[in-house]
Amino acid sequence: MNELVVQAPAKLNLTLDVLGRQPNGYHELKMVMQSVTLADTVTLRRLEAGEGAASNTVQVRTNLTYLPSDGNNLAAKAAHAFFAYAGLEGAALEIQLKKRIPVCAGTAGGSSDAAAVLRGLNELYRTGFSREMLAKIGEQVGSDVPYCVLGGTALAEGRGEKLTPLYPLPDCWLVLCKPGFAVSTPELFHAIDNVRLRRHPDTDGMLAALEAGNLREVALRMYNVFEDVLPTGRQGVIQEIKGALLDGGALGACMSGTGPTVFGLFADREQAEATARRLKETYRDTFLTQNLQ
Ligand code: C5P
Repeated sequence: MNELVVQAPAKLNLTLDVLGRQPNGYHELKMVMQSVTLADTVTLRRLEAGEGAASNTVQVRTNLTYLPSDGNNLAAKAAHAFFAYAGLEGAALEIQLKKRIPVCAGTAGGSSDAAAVLRGLNELYRTGFSREMLAKIGEQVGSDVPYCVLGGTALAEGRGEKLTPLYPLPDCWLVLCKPGFAVSTPELFHAIDNVRLRRHPDTDGMLAALEAGNLREVALRMYNVFEDVLPTGRQGVIQEIKGALLDGGALGACMSGTGPTVFGLFADREQAEATARRLKETYRDTFLTQNLQ
């Protein structure tokens, strides 16, 4: 087998709490994560001698030309980390990324591509590493990569690497909407150190709602502390989108990660479709998705 196609699903934060700061500068997090059907497609191809590839090269091609195609791309970083761990330093690889998940949006697009590379290379090179081992390799690549290796519904703690699988989110429709501004994750993490948070999510309540399989109770408990940290003008845009999602029939609405993507959780498909259509008139990056177990 020389080529493999892997799906890289987006993630949403049903909750996101920041508990403090670790001595290494990273923050202590507590988050309930959920995979959704919106996904990038990652194609991995082993390059052989004679295809113009020097050993130990990882070439990245993508439909978004502004993304890095060298070792700065998280997908390439993941491949290098995998080869180093597996003792395959001579390997040469081409990675094709068909991006659908918006970039720098709080939905783990880059981390999920990296995790898909790890899962895919494990098959392509028949290395037989466990998911836990792949998640461990992923830790070097980014804080969200271990979760993306696992996927589904999970509690992520510590820097994001301590993972506990949870009862699955009951089937539902999720409308994702990314406003047109970009957010810097390191800047928001820096800003949160200097802000008094008005509230925290009820994570235990969220876990209980998931265990009970109660979608309405899940929706009521969705909350992300970073919504408090955005500059006022941007908070206004987030609130406006949340308002439109709730007016359209969402049971709850929340920002994901450090944003700016906002999502609404719907029990009813038609309401979700109609709301996605309406939001798309203003926000090009609007997607109708479902949860992925
Ligand atoms: O690990 P990753 O490279 O994805 O993190 C990006 C940035 O987000 C870090 O440089 C750091 O500023 C911030 N971060 C943090 N605490 C975490 C995860 C990320 O402060 N647990």
